Amino acid sequence: MTSPIVPFSLKDTPALIERLLPVQKLSAETFKEQMAVQSKTLTAIGAYWKGRKPLILNKACILGCLIPATDNPKRDIEIFEKLMAMDDESLAIRLRHCKLETQIFLNAPYRELVDQAKRPEEVMDSVHHHIWGDVNMHLHTNAKSFPELVEQLGIMRFGHRPQVGDTFCGSGQIPFEAARLGCDVYSSDLNPIACMLTWGALNIIGGSEEDHTELEREQQQLVDAVLAQIDGLKGEADGRGWSAKAFLYCVEARCPQTDWMVPLLPTLIVSKADRTIAELIPDPILKRYGIAIRSGVSEEYFMAAKRGTVRSDGRGQDLYLVHTVDGLEYRTKISTLRGDFRKPDGTWANKLRLWSKSDFKPSPDDIFQERLYAIQWMRPKKGGKTFDYEFRGISEDDLDREHIVDEFIGKHLPEWQENGWVPDMRIEPGINTDQPIRERGWTYWHHLFNPRQLLVAGLVNRFSNARLKFGLCQVLNSNARLSRWSLGDGPGRSGGVKQVFDNQALNTLLNYGTRGSRFAVGLIQLNLKSFPFVPNLSLKINCHAAGQLLEKSDIFVTDPPYGNAVNYEEILEFFIAWLRRSPPPEFADWIWDSRRSLAIKGSGEEFRRDMVAAYKRMTECMTDNGIQVIMFTHQSGSIWADMANIVWASGLQVTAAWYVVTETDSALREGSYVKGTVLLVCRKRQGLQKITRDDLAWEIQEEVESQVQTLTGLNQKAKGLYRDENVFEDSDIQMAGYAAALRVLTHYAIIDGRDMTSEAIRPRVKGETTFVDGLISFAVDTANQYLVPQGMEKRYWDKLSGAERFYLKMLDQESRGVKKLDNYQNFAKAFKVRDFHALMASQKANDARLKSAIEFGRAEMGEGSELYQSVLRSVLYAVMELMKYVDGNEVLIHLTLNIPNYYADMTQRELAVNLADYLSKHLEVLRPDEASAARVLRELVKNQRLG
Ligand SMILES: C[S@@+](CC[C@H](N)C(=O)[O-])C[C@H]1O[C@@H](n2cnc3c(N)ncnc32)[C@H](O)[C@@H]1O
Repeated sequence: MTSPIVPFSLKDTPALIERLLPVQKLSAETFKEQMAVQSKTLTAIGAYWKGRKPLILNKACILGCLIPATDNPKRDIEIFEKLMAMDDESLAIRLRHCKLETQIFLNAPYRELVDQAKRPEEVMDSVHHHIWGDVNMHLHTNAKSFPELVEQLGIMRFGHRPQVGDTFCGSGQIPFEAARLGCDVYSSDLNPIACMLTWGALNIIGGSEEDHTELEREQQQLVDAVLAQIDGLKGEADGRGWSAKAFLYCVEARCPQTDWMVPLLPTLIVSKADRTIAELIPDPILKRYGIAIRSGVSEEYFMAAKRGTVRSDGRGQDLYLVHTVDGLEYRTKISTLRGDFRKPDGTWANKLRLWSKSDFKPSPDDIFQERLYAIQWMRPKKGGKTFDYEFRGISEDDLDREHIVDEFIGKHLPEWQENGWVPDMRIEPGINTDQPIRERGWTYWHHLFNPRQLLVAGLVNRFSNARLKFGLCQVLNSNARLSRWSLGDGPGRSGGVKQVFDNQALNTLLNYGTRGSRFAVGLIQLNLKSFPFVPNLSLKINCHAAGQLLEKSDIFVTDPPYGNAVNYEEILEFFIAWLRRSPPPEFADWIWDSRRSLAIKGSGEEFRRDMVAAYKRMTECMTDNGIQVIMFTHQSGSIWADMANIVWASGLQVTAAWYVVTETDSALREGSYVKGTVLLVCRKRQGLQKITRDDLAWEIQEEVESQVQTLTGLNQKAKGLYRDENVFEDSDIQMAGYAAALRVLTHYAIIDGRDMTSEAIRPRVKGETTFVDGLISFAVDTANQYLVPQGMEKRYWDKLSGAERFYLKMLDQESRGVKKLDNYQNFAKAFKVRDFHALMASQKANDARLKSAIEFGRAEMGEGSELYQSVLRSVLYAVMELMKYVDGNEVLIHLTLNIPNYYADMTQRELAVNLADYLSKHLEVLRPDEASAARVLRELVKNQRLG
């Protein structure tokens, strides 16, 4: 590796990310990667991991920490964009890889272009050739690859190749990107499954080509070894050339009203591909149902089969067993079948037997039985490589084959548990883990697998080394009693057995699929990508709580469990249970326990204390001129207070903050939910700086003002570079404004004689506004003051309430075509609007809109509204009346009554004129009729005779 031509020190130079980050483009790139779903680089190694931080975002953070901010910000951004493959030339290459004619596209908005283009990492070999001349010139380097550049920048900044640390490494997205760029990495996580996924990312995806070939060979050997054992049992093939692709099981229970055994099937449809249904055939003598499987039934018959024996109450709260005997329909709540009751202490219990360690299927007296009701068979077509498939009902032979597997597991379970090939671990109660216990009586993790599933997974576990454990986890995830049977999408599009963690819970199922062993072991052959790292990187992985860190790093990029809805420490026990007894040597030093009590969670006092412990330790373990980027998924309104407290108490100082949109509603079914990530950039706080509250106020104002001006100025300078798009939108500037305020605040260790480190961790009494809270809200308010929309004078703006400011600000944004809901969410928080929904006509993620004057009608005039007695609401009301042709004089009379102190306080009238004027200008294109009514109102008020 070449070293820098000029020994140029960056030791005390601010990093680019502390000054600039092209967040709009980065949001588009991040979103693009999130949309790639299964084809994301690291996903195949553990599709069950939820909440992967996009690699492109991690790359921006790491590079942004290494690259210096110079006195030429425009050039800094250009160079950074080249490195991120976000410049026009790179984009053209990325588009060409998709066979797209670039000239036509280059005028389109960046987001649309990115949508059509390859991701930078997909064309890594060709996309960067053109950049190195410019990059080296600007950065005083002589690199021709990222690892060279990173090493040289590391030497300039830290005196050595930089080390990136991530103590909440999860699936390894951050360490992987750091190593791919050429950094040494230190990764740790409390959870051993996280460590394992990180190990896989670094050692398999980042491993050599030869390693990949070797892994494929090992995978094949494992598949052969497992199938040889299973075939020997003769528990799957039908002896006539067909083998089982999937077994379908359902719960069966006795209806207490009729004493019939009823299969619990939410639908009788088995597969949409060839219109296959299950037909229930009553047997009044045995009081049970036979189940016949019919394929290719008529449309009418098929539609009728939609309804099964389990129905919802319509409110989606209770499920009922429903069946008909002698023309009478009987309905029994599933909770009644279980015998749910409330105990004196308010908790729930029921009559289900709790399964024991030796159980693997229901006992004959159990309330819930399990029944095999269909098998999907497959057979090679004559002479071809394709297969014939068919569903069949269950024969005596099938039951005999079930028996073979049951016997085998019954006989070997204790020994397999002893050897650690199948779990022997109890399910500890918890938020997610209560569900299988309560709904099924399952108390050990192996209860979540039926005998066929235990057989396959047990053998895979037994025969696999460290690298093959990733295949094991995929087998577990897609072949358990919690694996949903999907019906497919329609003709020719068959369904199949789906993964347990298609959401982040441990939901029990009334019917589920089990893979035939060939389909189960097929999951071992993961289709993994390969991005070999440069040799000799130091790649350390440890399993410990973040507060226990011992290793020094130059840069920390972390994504802590802030307000995270995923209970990793519970749900990952599903996998831990399989590995903990005999982990391979590579994983043997990790603690194979989720250590729930040490996991950081929630958002209260305990959360803050744990976070401070973690970040304090990272600060202590950070090089003095090191940098930290802390990622927070932006969900809670109290995020700023939390962040400032944690950072302050950890001995850090904020230097910048950015907001990157990571997902929108086309990704999430909820409709209009937007998710973004705040990047908080921090340095070690040096010395014990002191200030008074009064001086602080001035300093914050100056800092915010200068920050807002810098970014606004850069928008102007960079015009032309950005096909008419802003580098920073208002919301980015707002974020930067907040960060500027926090930068000043967290610079000080002592304010008004108070030690801020201890103030920040002082437990809060509910409802109390602490000294720190007061400072933060002052800082945030100061930032907001600089966000006066165009066309509004500051002296009027200062008179308005939060809700009024919100409405006017968002109208300004709408008039410029910005329609993203997350913008509304952010500004509502900024302006402290309690319920901005009341002001919205549409809340679609990418097509949000405020209510017009007409749409408001008479709403939001009452005392409960945040617009109550506001001048803006009165003006909108008047506009509405004018649009409905109410006489001008009458409109004026109403206006004077609606606006408090109209006659006594002249500024109220002035404000009304100003607001009418503002509305008329901003609505000109959006709603010309409303704009014209606002103009009329402005003139009416202006010319009104007073007296
Ligand atoms: C939001 S996730 C990180 C996700 C990761 N950046 C990724 O892209 O996959 C947070 C991680 O923090 C871990 N964690 C929770 N409490 C911890 C603690 N006290 N110490 C270390 N890690 C902890 C969890 O196990 C989880 O892996």
